[in-house]
Amino acid sequence: MKKVVLLALVAMMAVSVSFANGQQEDGKIVIGANIYSFADNFMNGVMKPELESYATAKGADIQVVDSEGQQAKLNDQVDIFITKGVDVLAINLVDPAAAGTIISKAKAAGIPLILFNKEATEAGVMASYDKVWYVGTDSAESGMIQGDMMVMDWKKNADWDKNGDGVVQYVLLKGEPGHPDAEARTKYSVKAFTDAGIKAEQLALEADPNWSTQHGNDKMAAWLTSSFGKDIELVICNNDGMGFGAITAMKAAGVRLPIYSVDALAQALTHIADGELDGTVLNDGVNQSRATLDLAINAAMGKDVTAGTAWTLQAASKAVRVPYVAVTPENYQDFQ
Ligand code: GAL
Ligand code: CA
Repeated sequence: MKKVVLLALVAMMAVSVSFANGQQEDGKIVIGANIYSFADNFMNGVMKPELESYATAKGADIQVVDSEGQQAKLNDQVDIFITKGVDVLAINLVDPAAAGTIISKAKAAGIPLILFNKEATEAGVMASYDKVWYVGTDSAESGMIQGDMMVMDWKKNADWDKNGDGVVQYVLLKGEPGHPDAEARTKYSVKAFTDAGIKAEQLALEADPNWSTQHGNDKMAAWLTSSFGKDIELVICNNDGMGFGAITAMKAAGVRLPIYSVDALAQALTHIADGELDGTVLNDGVNQSRATLDLAINAAMGKDVTAGTAWTLQAASKAVRVPYVAVTPENYQDFQ
């Protein structure tokens, strides 16, 4: 009899040990995740499906909810995940300045947290919890690569300087103001010209928190019919989505101006093939999704977050940064 009780006790202990290691009764890790908005081409079209299929491949359970562009909604979603007892959180901030709120919640619950795609902007916030990490990119790199492509092509195409003044008259479709990707892409894409000794003149810039095709279309259509419409020599887009809208607007107006974007979505590759887009930059959402989940699963199991993976963690920012790649009319087929 005593032996039976003892065995039951051992079995119970085994169960509680496996829970402490962050696993469901069936041995599966449960990941509570979100996308800041399912309306976003890149997040919904590339990252969400990869998060779901890679989680399945790794034998984990993931739930991905839509924060609908509202930070307050995301705060509530995180509370619900914590109440449900998820093993780890994988969070795409709506407001990159609101990381502190999410980190405090995870810390209070003792749940590890992987932030992805929108890097926290508040200084020191990543150091406020030992179980928070970031997966994304080096935002500046995308702007530099886009800028270098544009400078190279500008130099090759003397007729792009329509008024022959040696200055690039550009318009810029910017993503979410305050988003590290949007800020860095805006800055470094233009800086490439000045670094190459070419003057650049901004004719117009409009930002959209949703990085949307509709915004790209509306703004480009308005710019083309504005007083400076005929002066535009280059269209710089912080992402493909807005670029798609600008391409549609140009086609409707019967104009073809040099245009560059970032993300390398399948549709962007088609536009390059059709001669409607001059270049984009691969934002490797597949690997960003995989890194997010590799770190999340390791963290849930109490392991070193990069254990058994090829990811490198930058010590100061606690970040894994997946590289960007230039995509041009010469190499786009490699990405299809
Ligand atoms: C960027 C991407 C944009 C948009 C944004 C959302 O990395 O290039 O298209 O998805 O993330 O945070
Ligand atoms: Ca000019």
